[in-house]
Amino acid sequence: MKRCVVVGSGAREHALAWALAKSGEVVVTPGNAGIAAHGLACVATPAIDLEADLFVIGPEQPLVDGLADQLRTQGKTVFGPGTAGAQLEGSKSFMKEFLADAGVPTAAYGDFSDERSALAFLETMSAPYVIKTDGLAAGKGVLVTNDLAAARRDVLEKLSGAAFGDAGRTIVIEEGLVGEECSLHVLCDGTTAVPLVAAQDFKRVGDGDEGANTGGMGAYAPMPSLTSDQVVEIMRLIITPTLEELRRRDLEFRGVLYAGVMRTASGPKLLEYNVRFGDPEAEVLVPLYGDSLFDVLLQCAQGRLENRTLPASGAAVTVVLAAEGYPYSPRKGDVIDGIGDDGQLLEAREDVIVFHAATLRNAEGRFITRGGRVLAVTGLGASVSDARRRAYEGADRISFKGSIRRSDIALTVSTVAR
Ligand code: AMP
Ligand code: GLY
Repeated sequence: MKRCVVVGSGAREHALAWALAKSGEVVVTPGNAGIAAHGLACVATPAIDLEADLFVIGPEQPLVDGLADQLRTQGKTVFGPGTAGAQLEGSKSFMKEFLADAGVPTAAYGDFSDERSALAFLETMSAPYVIKTDGLAAGKGVLVTNDLAAARRDVLEKLSGAAFGDAGRTIVIEEGLVGEECSLHVLCDGTTAVPLVAAQDFKRVGDGDEGANTGGMGAYAPMPSLTSDQVVEIMRLIITPTLEELRRRDLEFRGVLYAGVMRTASGPKLLEYNVRFGDPEAEVLVPLYGDSLFDVLLQCAQGRLENRTLPASGAAVTVVLAAEGYPYSPRKGDVIDGIGDDGQLLEAREDVIVFHAATLRNAEGRFITRGGRVLAVTGLGASVSDARRRAYEGADRISFKGSIRRSDIALTVSTVAR
């Protein structure tokens, strides 16, 4: 039996491990209490000391830090780019320069590390104002606002290091784009690129897209409003030139390139690249590919992905249950009711899966909260609305003190192509 090591400890890694375990033996490092309870082996041993046929690196930080390079140096087969390719996510100013060289449509921008020139550039922009940390900030380093005074304050807080430490000492100020967003994940083996179905995530903490940006409060896939012609257009305008630029720079990218795309009135524009599966997008994408995932990720890692459409079945919706205070200062340590010893719903269901993002077991063996996003409850169905009903049925059965969630995930999913 083939063996796979998954690196990471969140709901994305839970989803990956769960799907990969359908066709192989899976070990997660370090994993979390909920992943272990679900019958998937979790070990504290670092990936570098483990043996497997395939290594799948979940989060961005180890990719940026060069874990994929270290493993490849040891002769391991790895799904995830090396540190050079990971710069597409690790540094927004690198990404923006790269996009300009590649000719990929994106928002106009400037990058700054001093207050005077940043504020002067800001005055030349019109609302919505968009200010981003250059470095990694767990999806929280972006302010989008119509309020110029708030934008000015944000520039000063980021550059001073007060808001995000060193990640914010360089900032990117961007033209605000307007349109519908989609997350297009593209599997790449260094040469061939194959898109998965498009997903949409819900980044703001509150219903109606109000409140702070978070890592993501829920997601659904596929996106009925995105036609296959529109996917072809995104591939042509955004992904193909990116792959050509990667080749020009001699950067081999084996992993998933996650394009955050804004579909504007003047065509699709790239908001950002991530170099790993989205979280919570993985919690809806991975279940749609089920049994084929192991082989496809292995083919990517080996540089022998075939250019073909990957079959996805049905639809999925995930609802994130977060702790009170998220995304700023989440409370921790509250007992979670409604899940059993295996970390799943008390009344077992095939069409609802509880992926654990940040849970622990207390001395009595009960699951307790351990961070901002606690659980991602995924419902599966024939359509997005079926999947949505199941996700919320599952979420309704789970409770912990102060828990927050959005009630409008996938509520108004357009079935009309735009
Ligand atoms: P990012 O981390 O760059 O994806 O930004 C997080 C979120 O902020 C995106 O998903 C968008 O919703 C929003 N955003 C980022 N850049 C822009 C932009 N240039 N115009 C409008 N919204 C943006
Ligand atoms: N859901 C957004 C991200 O993973 O970056």
